[in-house]
Amino acid sequence: MLLGRERPDRRWSTVAMTGTPGRRTAARWMAGAALAAGAAAWWWGDGAPYPYAQHRLLDVPLPFLGRGRLDALLGTRPGERFLEIGPGTGLQALHVAGQLGDSGRLDIVDIQQPMLDHVMRLAARRELTSIVPSRADARELPFPDATFDGAYLVTVLGEIPDVRAAVSELRRVLKPSGRLVVGEFLDRHYVPFVTLLRHASARGLQVTARLGPPLAYYAQFRPMPWAAES
Ligand SMILES: C[S@@+](CC[C@H](N)C(=O)[O-])C[C@H]1O[C@@H](n2cnc3c(N)ncnc32)[C@H](O)[C@@H]1O
Repeated sequence: MLLGRERPDRRWSTVAMTGTPGRRTAARWMAGAALAAGAAAWWWGDGAPYPYAQHRLLDVPLPFLGRGRLDALLGTRPGERFLEIGPGTGLQALHVAGQLGDSGRLDIVDIQQPMLDHVMRLAARRELTSIVPSRADARELPFPDATFDGAYLVTVLGEIPDVRAAVSELRRVLKPSGRLVVGEFLDRHYVPFVTLLRHASARGLQVTARLGPPLAYYAQFRPMPWAAES
């Protein structure tokens, strides 16, 4: 059995191989700092789209971003044409398409084909025929000006490398009477409301409603009257 006094000997024998205790502590701090910096860079700086391999997590509704609140701000009516950017596995798309009915249409745009295929498989199973997929980047939407009665995106905006360009495109494809609903949640791609408001105002969109706490909110925007005329 080792006596308390004997333990330092073993410690010092390790130190003899790897350096002084002060240097080892400094090395540990530096390694920890490098890890923390790497994690922060990944958390805040990675603009990659949400990986399809983790699609099962997208089926779990996020707190404060439920369908009731989305419905309240979208105000869909049968026969209208809507656009969703970044539908993921269709948590919102399948619900909204049902509201638009057979005479309406929901265009879904995603940068990843597997996401679109996933939604279309589920739509076929539910016999929903009003969903039309397009693989495209939100920064360059493949639609003419003033096409949609409404557009929405939920936990997508921060994944798009240029938020300003995406908001600009959304404004372009909205009808003057259209509405845009943005849902944001505190994840690593979170866009704070003030940032969104700045981009929206610069593109001629005014905020008309907001639901939920700051870290999990829905915001509704409409084209400003003066901007709709230009
Ligand atoms: C976190 S998922 C959100 C999915 C869904 N809206 C939800 O709430 O479950 C983000 C989605 O945005 C898509 N996306 C990311 N960047 C995009 C871009 N530049 N243009 C279009 N879609 C994009 C991703 O492929 C993914 O389907």
